[in-house]
Amino acid sequence: MYITLDGVSRQYDSIWAVDRVTMGIGKNEFVSLLGPSGSGKTTLLRIIAGLEKPTTGRVLIDGEDVTDLPPHKRGVAMVFQEFLLFPHRTVSENLAFPLRMMKLPAAEIAERVAWVVGILSLGGLEKRYPNQLSGGQQQRVALGRGLVGRPKALLLDEPLANLDRELRQEMEVEIRRHQSALGIPFIYVTHNQEEALSMSDRIAVVRKGRIEDFAARTDIYDRPKTAFIAQFVGRSNRFEGTVDAAGRHVATRCGTILALPAPLTAGHAVQLFIKNEKLRLAPDDGTDGASHGANRLACTVKDVILRGAYADYILAFGDRELNASRPRSERAFLSGEAVIAHLNPEDIDLFDMDGERPS
Ligand SMILES: Nc1ncnc2c1ncn2[C@@H]1O[C@H](COP(=O)(O)OP(=O)(O)OP(=O)(O)O)[C@@H](O)[C@H]1O
Ligand SMILES: [Mg+2]
Repeated sequence: MYITLDGVSRQYDSIWAVDRVTMGIGKNEFVSLLGPSGSGKTTLLRIIAGLEKPTTGRVLIDGEDVTDLPPHKRGVAMVFQEFLLFPHRTVSENLAFPLRMMKLPAAEIAERVAWVVGILSLGGLEKRYPNQLSGGQQQRVALGRGLVGRPKALLLDEPLANLDRELRQEMEVEIRRHQSALGIPFIYVTHNQEEALSMSDRIAVVRKGRIEDFAARTDIYDRPKTAFIAQFVGRSNRFEGTVDAAGRHVATRCGTILALPAPLTAGHAVQLFIKNEKLRLAPDDGTDGASHGANRLACTVKDVILRGAYADYILAFGDRELNASRPRSERAFLSGEAVIAHLNPEDIDLFDMDGERPS
């Protein structure tokens, strides 16, 4: 592994902001640290950068133990949410700044600045000041300032949080492309699951200072290891209930019966999640005799939200709501319509009440 965190912890007063984190990141990997506010993502990134000292544990970069090295001797660069550009310096001067700190010769500085201007499409903007740039251009300059020193790794802390959605999506593609082209690891901190899913090879889900799971993005999304991940990644409907005497069904608290993907111990209290896009809808025209059987929930459409290629349905089911997301190419439903929502047992993610997969 190119970057290794070995039992890294960081204590502030009485709390462990980072708690015994061990993970390895490959040389050409895009890794996201995804977690809610306060989970310890920034602290972990700052520990890798050397801006924060771990209370315990070691950090290795490219085979070298850098735990006691200051930031500028680690060869990694960091990009922040607040772009932190110098307002009274031009784009060129902002880009050249880290190289001047490294005391590189003028010719090499000019060459490297031209290189980042080229790869980040900043040509023509070199003489402008930050307040004469769009948000996306400012973010590119910030990215360029990270890359200009040819770092061994780039650490990014919510770099797109201040951009609007459309620009953010463009920048996601661009950042990912730079990572592949440069062949260095990018470690990307975000609380935005869409960002993490769109760019990463692997995602580390951070919760209360610990890594809840570190896996390929498809595994994080499709096979969440814990209830926390099921709730945090993607959008889903949650049910609680108790496994029936035969061990094959769950009687939920909201009064419905759900067939289980695999048999479980009778009486076991469980929580189940089904992603919005896995909930299938059919008109409830009374012809479906099994319409109120297991895994078929009779609902009424309360609201329809159009999302381009998808329609999000808010469904009234008893005294709760369910959420379904269906492609627009399917039959559309209108507010007030009676529908059957069908949950395929294979699409159910099931956990103990403590959030773990039942053994
Ligand atoms: N310098 C500090 N002194 C005391 N506590 C701190 C310090 N820095 C962070 N913390 C605490 O450590 C925990 C983790 O903070 P951190 O900034 O790493 O979270 P985060 O996941 O980056 O959150 P966000 O998504 O809001 O940026 C929080 O409880 C925070 O209050
Ligand atoms: Mg943070």
